[in-house]
Amino acid sequence: MGRVALVTGGTRGIGAAISIALRDAGYKVAANYAGNDDVANAFAEKEGIKVYKFDVSSFEACQVGIERIAADLGPVEVLVNNAGITRDTVIHRMTPQQWDEVIRTNLTSCFNLSRLVIDNMRERNFGRIVNIGSVNGQAGQYGQVNYAAAKSGIHGFTKALAQEGATKGVTVNAIAPGYIDTEMVRAVPPNVLEKIVAKVPVGRLGHASEIARGVLFLVADEAAFITGSTLSINGGQHMY
Ligand code: CAA
Repeated sequence: MGRVALVTGGTRGIGAAISIALRDAGYKVAANYAGNDDVANAFAEKEGIKVYKFDVSSFEACQVGIERIAADLGPVEVLVNNAGITRDTVIHRMTPQQWDEVIRTNLTSCFNLSRLVIDNMRERNFGRIVNIGSVNGQAGQYGQVNYAAAKSGIHGFTKALAQEGATKGVTVNAIAPGYIDTEMVRAVPPNVLEKIVAKVPVGRLGHASEIARGVLFLVADEAAFITGSTLSINGGQHMY
């Protein structure tokens, strides 16, 4: 089949697992990354997946990135908005910069990339967009007003864009991961993380591959009737 798929933040953590799963399923994958050249180049070499460095929080940078991917692989038919950062701290210590960086990287990026691929998807009458939200966007989380606001925004963005794409074969869905065993989660202070995991009914962190499995399900050609939905993959932490 060989549809072209772009995964933002696709060389590490959950994104890497999604890139690999899509490649294994026969998609032509472009894995975007922002900064870590060493990790991205090692990933490209090991997995045979093309990597593209651009800043998803900048519309202009995304424009250049999408043009490069189109020239190499063809127009993007599957977009996975996965790139995300944390700048955790309580609001009384949060700087405007910490607020802004998280909103731009986690939420504005979804606008930037969707805006840049949507015309092509509408013309071809086919598109799949999956936005990676978070349990913390659904339930809130102490120390994350910026991240929770951005992720919650992703869920609203998904439902609005799903309505716009529906008659044009463009489905738009979200996945809300719980706490997954990635560098981002390992950065949470161990005593705090222990308390969080204690409240997860399944009793452990999730694996990145368990999120990738959900993405594959939502982007399949056969998933044409699934749009505007949120798939929670969180070990039962929050039932929404
Ligand atoms: N609810 C209520 N109170 C809490 C709390 C919570 N969940 N977490 C911490 N507190 C309280 C503490 O008990 C403590 O109170 P006292 O001073 O009275 O003892 C106070 O807040 C300060 O706690 P810390 O010592 O932890 O303070 P800190 O300033 O060093 O750190 C923090 C604050 C940065 C928020 C830190 O607690 C933290 O990193 N928390 C984890 C946040 C988190 O879960 N981030 C998720 C990252 S992974 C991710 O985001 C992926 C995803 O999508 C799931």
